[in-house]
Formats: sequence, structure tokens, C-alpha cells
Amino acid sequence: MPPNIQVFFPKESIPALYPNEKVGERVTTYAEKHTSTIPRHIINYHDHIKTTQPKTANYMIPISEAQALVFLAHTVGAKRVLEIGSYVGFSMLVWSHAVGPQGYVTGLEFEPSFVQMAKEAFAANGVQNTELVVGDALETLQNLAPSEPYDIIFIDAQKTGYPSYLATILRLSQPGAATRLLRPGGLIIADNVLRCGFAADDSEDNPWRNYDFGPHRKEYWKSADVQSVKAYNQTILESQRVESWLCPLWDGVNMSRLLD
Ligand SMILES: C[S@@+](CC[C@H](N)C(=O)[O-])C[C@H]1O[C@@H](n2cnc3c(N)ncnc32)[C@H](O)[C@@H]1O
Repeated sequence: MPPNIQVFFPKESIPALYPNEKVGERVTTYAEKHTSTIPRHIINYHDHIKTTQPKTANYMIPISEAQALVFLAHTVGAKRVLEIGSYVGFSMLVWSHAVGPQGYVTGLEFEPSFVQMAKEAFAANGVQNTELVVGDALETLQNLAPSEPYDIIFIDAQKTGYPSYLATILRLSQPGAATRLLRPGGLIIADNVLRCGFAADDSEDNPWRNYDFGPHRKEYWKSADVQSVKAYNQTILESQRVESWLCPLWDGVNMSRLLD
């Protein structure tokens, strides 16, 4: 008899790589515990948002993904990070820690109440290396004029914007240009590029078709969100300007390195 495979919600830490929920949880907990920790105040903020903002808390990346991003940022020596879609500032706290006090993090977010909460969290934790640009990132991204290019750009806003964000980043990071958004060798990291696996499998074999994503998200597997992340993944694959790894953990993370 094959094992009874359970299906986990992909935004959570527990990836569906193990035969049932118990094993998945234990393996994930083990992996988290055997990975360098991130500071306690960041984990506490994640817990605080989960408790106080239950309707939107799953916007945040999970702790295990945060650990992976810190590792990645340290590996490429990132000092400047741009984040598109910041919610209440959790992942900005993660980047802020990753780049250190001499580094800098810019967040783009259009919801003023989220921006306010993020600013309060930065102040409460003595974080001084962040800035938030309030407005529609489809516009604000194009108008950024950083004094130095970013080392990492993290895309985590509306999924329908992903193709546009990518096009803008590549257009504003031309080889030889006096100013550019992303440095040569910099990373473009896009979250949620598998969308419950629908990007790869939207057939009835995918049990997430039965999940209630809300009244405005009927037949979500056919949605513009899913088509947009598929377009994003395909454009990245076909681009001569990047090399990439589509990491199938969490909800799928597309990691690309700008070659020029
Ligand atoms: C998934 S959440 C970001 C979570 C955050 N990166 C974290 O892990 O803590 C996406 C955020 O993008 C914001 N957003 C969506 N579309 C946007 C747009 N066009 N411009 C600016 N912000 C946008 C939403 O308000 C939301 O707060």
C-alpha cells in the first residue's frame, strides 16, 4: 500500500516533501533548528502578527524561508536590498538583519496601514537601515533612482505585476549604464511562483483546486495570478540575461542572477 500522502498549505513552513504531516513537521522543525537562527525580535514579530492579524498574516514569508534568504544574502555579500511588497515589514526586518547596520533596505508598499505598522516595528526594534516608498509599485519601481544599484531585488507583491516588475528591473539595469537598479551578478528573487502548484499542474490531480480561496477567487487555478507567475517563470527561463533556479520549497521561489 502506498502511504497516505497528506497535502499541506504551501505558504506554511512545512513543504509537501514528506509522506505525512507528522514527518513533514518533524523534518521541517529539525531543519529549522539546524539552520543558523535569525534574531529573536524578528521571530517575535512574526508571532505577534500571526496573533494580531489573523486574516492577513499568511502574507508573510515563513521563518524557514527567512532563514534561507538571510543565508543567500550573506552568500552574495548583499548590502542593498529592494523589496516589492512589504506588508507590515516582516521580511524587511529579515533583510535589515541580513545586510547589517551599514546596509540598506528599500520597501515598496501601497497600503498605508501596513506601512504604519512596519514603521512602528522598525522604531520599536531600533532598526535604522530601512525606508518605505508608499504607492503603487508598478509606478514607484520605475521612479526609483538609487545612488548605488541593489544587490538583491525581492518580488512579493501582487502576482499579476510580476511580469511588469521583471521587465522594469531588466530595462533599468542595462550593462554599461551610469545608473541601474540591480548590479551585475545581483539576484532577483520572486516569491510564490508556483501558486499551490497550479503553475505546474492545474489538472484535477491537484487537490488545491478544491480549496476555498475566497469568493473573488473562484477557479483560482485559471486566474490571472497563476497565468502571471507562469509568464514570469517562462520569461526568466528564456532570458539570455539571467541564470535561474526555481526552488520548489514553500510556494515556489524563483531565484535568478543577472549576468550582465
Ligand atoms: C505577500 S505581501 C508581502 C509580505 C512581505 N514580503 C513579508 O513576507 O513580510 C504582499 C504585499 O504587497 C502589497 N502590494 C500588492 N500590490 C502592490 C502594488 N501594486 N504596489 C505596492 N504594494 C503592493 C500588498 O499590500 C501586500 O502588503
